[in-house]
Amino acid sequence: VTPRYTPLAAGLPASVPFVGPEAQERAMGRPFRARIGANESVFGPSPRAIAAIADAAAEAWKYGDPECHDLKVALARHHGIAPGNVVIGEGIDGLLGLLVRLLVEPGIAVVTSRGTYPTFNYHVVGFGGRLHAVPYHGDRTDPAALARAARETASPLVYLANPDNPMGGFHAAGIIRDLLAALPEGCLLCLDEAYADTAPAAALLPLDVADPRLIRMRTFSKAHGLAGLRVGYAIGQADLVRAFDKVRNHFGVGRVAQAAALAAIADTDHLARTVARIAAGRDALAELARAHGLTPLPSATNFVTIDCGRDGEHARALVGALARRGVFVRMPFVAPQDRCIRVSVGTDADLAILAEALPDALAELRG
Ligand SMILES: Cc1ncc(COP(=O)(O)O)c(C=O)c1O
Repeated sequence: VTPRYTPLAAGLPASVPFVGPEAQERAMGRPFRARIGANESVFGPSPRAIAAIADAAAEAWKYGDPECHDLKVALARHHGIAPGNVVIGEGIDGLLGLLVRLLVEPGIAVVTSRGTYPTFNYHVVGFGGRLHAVPYHGDRTDPAALARAARETASPLVYLANPDNPMGGFHAAGIIRDLLAALPEGCLLCLDEAYADTAPAAALLPLDVADPRLIRMRTFSKAHGLAGLRVGYAIGQADLVRAFDKVRNHFGVGRVAQAAALAAIADTDHLARTVARIAAGRDALAELARAHGLTPLPSATNFVTIDCGRDGEHARALVGALARRGVFVRMPFVAPQDRCIRVSVGTDADLAILAEALPDALAELRG
């Protein structure tokens, strides 16, 4: 007896959004030497977070606090807002799914950028939404086009990652303000600020939790180095934040994860040190790219997107050639941005491995 899938589920493509480096390692039969493809933080979590994880480990038999109270209060204090303006979830990815569930049903138009961070799209399609993906403009997302598409489709939801993944650039806060002003009545902007910690202050609007048109997503996966624990949060108007309670997985953020995030938020020194190392690492990656005739794009994130000067086929071949040399990187998946590869900031050791592998891989492609 086959399960009676809903027509929506039966019609979904059987695609896997992310083929992880682990799957590639299993296929290759050996581990990568440099894991610099998933925009994780190779600098790791705060030692205080690691200690909190160790302390919480023996308590892992207990469910986590379903209200994430202590973490929520700490985040609210950190941002100078009320706890009622914060919802915590299983990373931004989890929160995106909940947001889409709240706003999208079959046939609803949802606006995003073609080739941007893709998890949002999987959620939209999973709830039967119709994606309107507007092209990038000169390797950047195009806020004016997003607003136009939202008006044309009467969409209730627009997604924008700022800074952007996979291209790494950002729009200044004023541009985001203009985008908000240009949205149709009743349309919500989901501003994915996964890279807020590495972004210049100019990229970030002041927090205005009274604005019902805006929800902002942040994560512990990037500069805080806790990607494997799955903690993110959204900041928004209290009514919208409360709506998440109707659909969220109440024990989704585990006890150990909550303890780790709580310790991480308190360790501002570790965060500052990590952000400085990321900035230095970006410069080193850019220099390495240039030394081999490639063009690094400006980045406000923990990765550098590198224009390889040809097309998607060439960049894909380079990603493969690097993988054969033990280096895990990824690339944008839509033309013309797919002429680039995307390399996360690594340790000095990672950089040395890349420095050795890159010229060799490029030479192989030249034949
Ligand atoms: C723009 C963007 N949003 C969200 C995420 C995922 O964040 P989380 O680990 O909090 O789900 C990423 C990770 O690469 C990202 O680049």
